[in-house]
Amino acid sequence: MGGRGVVTAAAFGPASMSNLGPGFDTLGICIRGYGDTVTATITAAPEVSVQSSIPLPSDPGRNSAARAAQLVLQAAGADCSVHLEIDKGIPLGSGIGGSAASAVAGAWATNLVLGSPLEKSNLVEAVLEGEAVASGGARHGDNALPALFGGMVLTSPRDAADYRLIPLCRPLYVALLLPKLAILTAPARDILPEQVSLRSAVENASDLAFLMHGIAAGDYEEMGVYMMRDRLVEPVRSKLLPFYDQARARALAAGAWACAITGSGPAMFALAPSRPVAEAAAAAMVHAATAAGTHATGVVTEPDLEGVRAV
Ligand code: HSE
Repeated sequence: MGGRGVVTAAAFGPASMSNLGPGFDTLGICIRGYGDTVTATITAAPEVSVQSSIPLPSDPGRNSAARAAQLVLQAAGADCSVHLEIDKGIPLGSGIGGSAASAVAGAWATNLVLGSPLEKSNLVEAVLEGEAVASGGARHGDNALPALFGGMVLTSPRDAADYRLIPLCRPLYVALLLPKLAILTAPARDILPEQVSLRSAVENASDLAFLMHGIAAGDYEEMGVYMMRDRLVEPVRSKLLPFYDQARARALAAGAWACAITGSGPAMFALAPSRPVAEAAAAAMVHAATAAGTHATGVVTEPDLEGVRAV
């Protein structure tokens, strides 16, 4: 930080996977390997300004990092503003929390440049509102809060600021399928049904409860079984992915505990007990996507337990 009267600070906002089967808008996990970096510089200008590595709206009404930064400045009572440089490491519309990563990095870089007056827990509102402006106004915390805190986070769709950090007591490997497609969150929410049957709702609630039991008990085989049972959202969105059924079948055949769409897709993930199994699952999912005519890459990663940080 510092130098020649210009004060700057940079933060890395990691990628995250959300929904995790029946936990629509409720459950997410931060992952290593991808993320957005935001550099904040103090300015005397009246508004937050933005420059980005790819074309993005710069207005705080539509840019997640700018909105989050604006709210951090307000919460800190700052009498200055910031200029943000956003380096997008996460492709737009990929399903691994790009807007959330920018929001948390924008919030943290701004907090750092102000001398860190706020704790992470004081930034919850800022990152949720940042995420909301990039998601057509939908305020969901299942990417933004894992990206802020790291690890797995449970958040309430009634009030996303009501959240719990979920300990992960066993090692977990993630195989990630990144298809060369873009699916934006807002339209992928618009295709979801407004109403579902009582039976489906009850079964989904039960499946999420069993999934959480599996995590709490360290029984990740159980977690995997229930992660595969969403019947409200994934059946609708999977129709956008021509490789979905085969990717899922092949990842499981490779030994994965579970395989599902992350967020609104198109990325899919498989959870595995070891790195070799995750590597086999990633290769199997890439094979399925390629066979369906979709270019895709597969990577193996792990949960990121730290969340947003200074760089
Ligand atoms: N829970 C959200 C959704 C995450 O699935 O629409 C998208 O970023």
